[in-house]
Amino acid sequence: MAKILIIYDSKTGNTKKMAMAIAQGAREVKGADVVVKKVDNTTLGDLLKADGLIIGSPTYYGQMSAKIKALIDKSVKIHGRLEGKVGGAFTSSGGTASGAETTLFSILQAMLIHGMIIQGRAKDKHYGAASVEAPKSKDLETCFDLGRRVATLAIKLKG
Ligand SMILES: Cc1cc2nc3c(=O)[nH]c(=O)nc-3n(C[C@H](O)[C@H](O)[C@H](O)COP(=O)(O)O)c2cc1C
Repeated sequence: MAKILIIYDSKTGNTKKMAMAIAQGAREVKGADVVVKKVDNTTLGDLLKADGLIIGSPTYYGQMSAKIKALIDKSVKIHGRLEGKVGGAFTSSGGTASGAETTLFSILQAMLIHGMIIQGRAKDKHYGAASVEAPKSKDLETCFDLGRRVATLAIKLKG
């Protein structure tokens, strides 16, 4: 079994919809134990228990939201202990070319600093799942795929 934790922040529900779709994709993978948590209810203990962490934020001025950043900053207390876990990121933004990629990178960068493992994607949406406002059916497909890929890799690495 591999534990997959999906953490999200969402004010108007768009990023939350993506989180639910990512969970659906991850649950398709045999051996994945999937939990979705709002960032407000996420503890450092939750991060430590997970084998795969997928973090989503609305795009706020091209970056992750303050709540997601606060969790990441708090995680300095467990620095070194997330090493080797699988990571992934997702975001909902208000437009295209308006900060979604930099938001994904802001999350992935923190994960890399933690020593986590990130798998890119050769098809479109190379860096994670992104949606303009609420996810449409094509965006949901990318979300399912992100969940499946992180779960599959986490299980493989647990071996
Ligand atoms: C404080 C704030 C900053 C935002 N900054 C951006 C931005 O830089 N680029 C963008 O495309 N959308 C921006 N938006 C729009 C949100 O990213 C977008 O509405 C998103 O779908 C909200 O996700 P949510 O429904 O999960 O809260 C911003 C919204 C707010 C409230």
